[in-house]
This record gives sequence, C-alpha cells and structure tokens, in this order.
Amino acid sequence: METKILDANIEKSIELCADVIKSGGLIGVPTETVYGLGANALSSDAVMKIFTTKGRQPDNPLIVHVASPSDVGLVVREIPAVFEILTKTFWPGPLTLVMKKTDAVPDSVSAGLDTVAVRMPEHPVMLRLIEKSGVPIAAPSANISGSPSPTKAQHVFNDLFGKIPYVLDGGDCRIGVESTVVDITGDVAQILRPGGVTYEELVKVLGAVEVFAPLNSSDVTAPRSPGMKYRHYSPKAPVIAVVGPAEKSAEFIRTNIVGGCKCANHSEIDTRLAENPKKIAALMFDDYSFDNPAVVCFGACSDHKAQAANLFDSLRRLDSLDYNVILAQVPEQKGLGLAVANRILKAATVVENV
Ligand code: TXA
Ligand code: MG
Repeated sequence: METKILDANIEKSIELCADVIKSGGLIGVPTETVYGLGANALSSDAVMKIFTTKGRQPDNPLIVHVASPSDVGLVVREIPAVFEILTKTFWPGPLTLVMKKTDAVPDSVSAGLDTVAVRMPEHPVMLRLIEKSGVPIAAPSANISGSPSPTKAQHVFNDLFGKIPYVLDGGDCRIGVESTVVDITGDVAQILRPGGVTYEELVKVLGAVEVFAPLNSSDVTAPRSPGMKYRHYSPKAPVIAVVGPAEKSAEFIRTNIVGGCKCANHSEIDTRLAENPKKIAALMFDDYSFDNPAVVCFGACSDHKAQAANLFDSLRRLDSLDYNVILAQVPEQKGLGLAVANRILKAATVVENV
C-alpha cells in the first residue's frame, strides 16, 4: 500500500479519510497533542488493526475520541458528578477521562477492563473527521510502539509508510505531549498519565487530585494505566536522563561530551561507550546549551510549553544523527514540566542524579 499525506485544508481529504474509517480502515490523524492512528472505535476488527500496525501490546487500552460531551453516553455507562465541571473547563482539549464503559465498546479498545478512556480533542480537523465518520474514533499515538510520538504528519509517514493509506496533515501539533489521563471512577480523581492539562489546573477545579503516575518505569509495581509500564518514547540510542538543577545537569553534560563519557553502570550503555566514549549527543535547554553539533535544543529552561512542543521532534532528530548515547536535561516537575519530565524519564535507560 502506498501511503499518501493529504492536506486537511481540502474538504475532499476529510471525506476520503471518513470513508476509510467507515469501511474499517486506519488513518493518521492530527490532534492538538500528537498525531493519532485512528479507527472506528465501535468495530473490534478495525481496532485490532491498530494493535498489529503499531506493534502495540494488546493489554494496553486505547483512547476513544468524541466530537462532543453529549456523545459520551454511547460509550460510558456511569457519568460521574465531576464530569460536567471537567468537560466544561477542559474540553475540547488534552484531558482524557477514564469512566465505566458500555457494551458498545469492544474489549479490544479497553483491553478487557470495564472502563474506557474518552476525550474530545480540540483540533478542528479531528473534530470534522469524527463528525463525518459518524462514529467515535479510537486512536493511540501514531508511532511504532516504543518510539517517540509523532507531532508532524511527516513523522507518521516515516513510521507507518506502507501500512496505512492516508495521513491527514493538519500541521504541527500545538501542545506536543499527549493528553492527561484521569480516572474519575473513584471518590478522588487520579492522574494516571501527566499531559497537556496540568496537575495544578486540575487541583484548581477539583480541590483534591491524586497523582498515580510513577515517573520512572522501574518504580511501577501495579500500573493503573497499563501503558505506563512499558518503555516509551525512546530514540534508538539509549538515553541517560540527567536530573538536577539546570546548571548542574548542563555542566555534567558538557564535561561528558567534551571529555568523553566513561561509564553509566549499565551494560548496554557501557558497551557502547567502550566502543567510542565521544559519540555522545545531548538534548538541552536553549539557555544552558553550548555550541556543539552533538547538542539539540528543545526550549528555554523555564519554557515548558516550548519543551513540550519540541520534545518528540528533537528526540527524532537525535535519532537521525549517528550517536551511541544521548544525555538529556530534565525540566522541573511542575506545570507542563511534569509531563515533559515524565516522557524523558520513560524514554531513559538510566537516570543520573546530579
Ligand atoms: O493525546 C493523546 O492522548 C493521544 C492523542 C492521539 O489523542 N493519544 C494517546 O494514546 O496518547 P496512547 O494510546 O498512546 O495512550 C493512551 C494511554 C495509555 O497510557 C493507556 O494505558 C491509557 O491511556 N488508557 C487507555 N484506556 C485506559 C483505561 N481504561 N484505564 C486506564 N488507562 C487507560
Ligand atoms: Mg503513545
């Protein structure tokens, strides 16, 4: 199959893609967070194709995208009291709500759980596509499982060429990290994955919110959001996340790039470093970086919005350069920085505290 990138500004493009969704196929779709790999959420056969196409573990459930809060009744059995205030405040937008599911949701979508994750995206192209298709659209991020999420149509094309007919090009994703996943089935809302809506914004609306999203995959004993137990977002070269004050992490990275990195106490990384201790690249804040071809910048230290918007593209750029190991600065875990830090730590093979 030839994969084509279609311009979403042309109405015919959305019609073509809606026809594919209606007939049980897959489409690369733009959202304000990341690009999704969309299918008819009510068709088990269509949804199964998502798992085989991405190489996704079948125990990792999908998000169902709707075009309006009133469409939730089809897929959700019990609407919790906080649903109204949350959707009034944050929909359309990067907030995914986990609620009890109806029988209309195939088990393949919910991975056998009795809940379903639902969100109303803000991107006008995605909303038009859901309306034209006449069904809710299940969509995980449109990358090969494990690799950085796609924030440009070209990223989807690169990952899924030959596997899907169309990528609907709606421009670069405005936010750049995925939605915040919040379980609202219990007494207190629980953040299962930090994302585009921040913890602080949720606390302002709800009062109490628990964060059930361990940052480092090694902390995970009983993952509540099944996707959080897998290593994610990773470029091909292993990442060492350097956690600490920005001036200290920058100094650590500079010393290791200039002097050659010696040891990370990790067999895969140490083998690579023994081969060539100088093939080190870095992901750094603009205001702490230094002039070196091995350094990719992803936004100023305090500009979490820019970091979120650039993160996945930067990890993909680092992939295209031929380096053995990547050192990454990690932002402060507040505001949108919590989601950015979460993605870097999930991508990391080793965490270095400085
Ligand atoms: O921004 C986003 O959320 C993007 C765009 C395309 O909408 N989608 C996305 O999907 O990031 P995906 O499949 O990459 O991540 C979905 C996350 C996973 O961590 C999954 O485990 C969790 O949501 N999830 C889905 N259904 C769940 C459920 N019923 N209970 C708990 N976690 C659930
Ligand atoms: Mg994903």
